[in-house]
Amino acid sequence: MDYDGRVAIVTGAGGGLGRSHALLLASRGAKVVVNDLGGSRDGSGAGSEMADQVVQEIVAAGGEAVANYDSVAEWEGGESIVQSAIDAFGRVDILVNNAGILRDVSFAKMEPAQLDLVLKVHLYGGFHVTKAAWPHMREANYGRIINTTSGSGLYGNFGQSNYSAAKLGLVGLTRTLAIEGQKYGITANVIAPIAASRMTEDVMPPQLLEVLEPENVSPLIGYLASEGCTETGKIYSVGGGYIARVAIVEGTGATFEDGFGPEDVAAKFDEISTVPLGEGNAEFTNGVMEQTGKIVTALGITFD
Ligand code: NAI
Repeated sequence: MDYDGRVAIVTGAGGGLGRSHALLLASRGAKVVVNDLGGSRDGSGAGSEMADQVVQEIVAAGGEAVANYDSVAEWEGGESIVQSAIDAFGRVDILVNNAGILRDVSFAKMEPAQLDLVLKVHLYGGFHVTKAAWPHMREANYGRIINTTSGSGLYGNFGQSNYSAAKLGLVGLTRTLAIEGQKYGITANVIAPIAASRMTEDVMPPQLLEVLEPENVSPLIGYLASEGCTETGKIYSVGGGYIARVAIVEGTGATFEDGFGPEDVAAKFDEISTVPLGEGNAEFTNGVMEQTGKIVTALGITFD
């Protein structure tokens, strides 16, 4: 599988998962725009060093890449990131929306600034860069978009109402992009990764962080970004060498006669709530800890 002749944009590629995605794509022939604002984990600050370093790594390994330091949080940033790809390489085929920050705080204590920037980087960021790339992909009748959600968005997580809302918003965006992109050969999928990075270094035990290398997430990006993969609109949980599709499911439901009231709903609430899952194969995941637990179980990791 290679990306010869393809141009990829990876946002937030100056470190962590984005760096790993960019290195993989470049190692197989993609020309890559390495975007990174170069700030800190909470989104403050900026700098060119992070993106430059990854570009150097790619070039040193014989690949082609250019750096871009714009923020995905602004419309102009999205436009200028895509313009970098057009200026340097003349097209854009693959877009990995990966940039992210954290401003964790309990819902009760959340201040507007903690909500606004998290929404702007993750959710608006996905819109800004994709909106600028979309006309190029439509014109080329080809595109591979991969967005980055989180178990926190899919399942909720204490102290992350801002981040969860932004991340699940990206799932909605992805599913609609998949529908609107279909007739233009544009696919859109979304991954919920778990990986050791500066984002998670202080929230997981070292033994677990060791196996959760970002390099174990990137092969899924590589496949979804490939020409041969036409899957679209899907969500995947991925980490440590485990990959599973996550689906939004609906139960068999209950029906009511006209004029029914809340008591009738109460009477059938068990029936409403039941989601019979296929042949005991699929199962619910309740929370990020359980998402991580499934990875640990699948990989047979034991803790001393
Ligand atoms: P990271 O902090 O190493 O990477 C995020 C990168 O985005 C940083 O290099 C940062 O400088 C860049 N960035 C931040 N704001 C930006 C902006 N406005 N414009 C451009 N670049 C910006 O963290 P990690 O773990 O690699 O995160 C990558 C993505 O994966 C994020 O979207 C994160 O929310 C998501 N994720 C990560 C998980 C994990 O376990 N590491 C779990 C679930 C989701």
